[in-house]
Amino acid sequence: MSELYQQAFQYATTFLKESNDLPIQVSDQARSDLKHLDFKLQTEGVDATQVIQELDQWVSPATMKMGSPRFFGFVIGGCYPVSVASNWMGTAWDQNTGLEKTTPAVAALERISGRWMLEMLGLPAQSAVAFVTGATVANFTALAAARNQVFNKAGWDVEADGLIGAPEVHIIISEESHPTVYKSLAMLGFGRNRVTKVPTDDQGRIDMAQFPVVKDNTIVICQAGNINSGAFDPISDICERVESKNAWVHVDGAFGLWAMASDKHRYLGEGIEKADSWATDAHKWLNVPYDSGLAFVKNEHALKAAMAITASYLPSENATRNPSDYTPELSRRARGIDIYAVLRHLGKSGVEELIDRCCACAKRFADHFTTAGFEVMNDVLLNQVVVCFGSEELNLQVMDAIQKEGTCWAGQTIWKDRLAMRISISNWQTDFKAVDDSLVVIDELINNLVK
Ligand SMILES: Cc1ncc(COP(=O)(O)O)c(C=O)c1O
Repeated sequence: MSELYQQAFQYATTFLKESNDLPIQVSDQARSDLKHLDFKLQTEGVDATQVIQELDQWVSPATMKMGSPRFFGFVIGGCYPVSVASNWMGTAWDQNTGLEKTTPAVAALERISGRWMLEMLGLPAQSAVAFVTGATVANFTALAAARNQVFNKAGWDVEADGLIGAPEVHIIISEESHPTVYKSLAMLGFGRNRVTKVPTDDQGRIDMAQFPVVKDNTIVICQAGNINSGAFDPISDICERVESKNAWVHVDGAFGLWAMASDKHRYLGEGIEKADSWATDAHKWLNVPYDSGLAFVKNEHALKAAMAITASYLPSENATRNPSDYTPELSRRARGIDIYAVLRHLGKSGVEELIDRCCACAKRFADHFTTAGFEVMNDVLLNQVVVCFGSEELNLQVMDAIQKEGTCWAGQTIWKDRLAMRISISNWQTDFKAVDDSLVVIDELINNLVK
């Protein structure tokens, strides 16, 4: 066993050591070499060391180097070393994190890190915390709690009686909502189309002048961190607007919620604590390994009513917090380990430094592009930069050239009906040097293209 683990450790640490200096984009050769993994299912197996050797040989070169300090695509983070190490330990412990009585240590880590998260983000201390796979499932989980409470107040037990014959519930959503929010609405039986979409302003924020009259039995879904501009909806105003109604306000803060950990950036989400639930990703800006998202729900009872499993064989008596009472899954990995590890390692000030540094790097990109005469299409207040180099064709050429060259990586977006390049900064390693090294390459590629 020890030899096998040493071998895997060696491959993994070599990968981590070298990957920052390798081209980010996967080469055509490495893609094509994946055919070497594609065997006809054998009757007899092979030695474990051979399996690990083959994985290293063919998979490592075919990985997009998403953990690089110069990877700026999709708003995703990398992994702090402490979380890679804690994740390895978590795999060795292999705790099925459903029940506190059977897995007390990892249940305790969730309880503690959940409390830390609430404090750091300034959310109500009594809120329940669910450790899920990502923001998609965090949105789903929080909206399931919303569904419980709104129906409950309307005199309907949706968990017991389902949606057929239920009173109507109204969904108000931003026209800029993330596609995964629609997926959650579909999974919850609300439907993707039975929504009222509110128009947004030039930064993608809900326009309160066009906010509909709120009726009873309403769920409003807003954003902290627009996927393109990074902008926040006027969450405080929205909460005030629904106050007197049977209504629930949910905030999708997949990456933007982390701004609340920073003194400098907290103003973006002022009043956010008035909402009823919030979703975020730890695998984005907290830089823990996949997969890791969090749902925070002010009314613990509503979340438990939507998620708790009661079965006679499950030993739940005397438990203070059974993890499976809060999440869609019963059996799952112990996501709290890595969140605990990073928060313990960084402390509040370390998280704040990370957020502020990433935002400063975004500003540096934006200032450079503006000075160079290109159009930065968003107000760069957080970690997102949307830049347009000129015609659609030129934008596509620039992105293609950047991705092929391999020093850095950024992808395309459509913002306000125009094709542009989006730069997202949420990696723990990104600093001014990473930005400047990328800009040297980007400038040269653009010069070659427009020459
Ligand atoms: C605003 C927003 N909501 C939801 C999601 C979905 O997150 P995940 O892919 O982690 O499930 C994302 C992902 O980029 C996002 O930016």
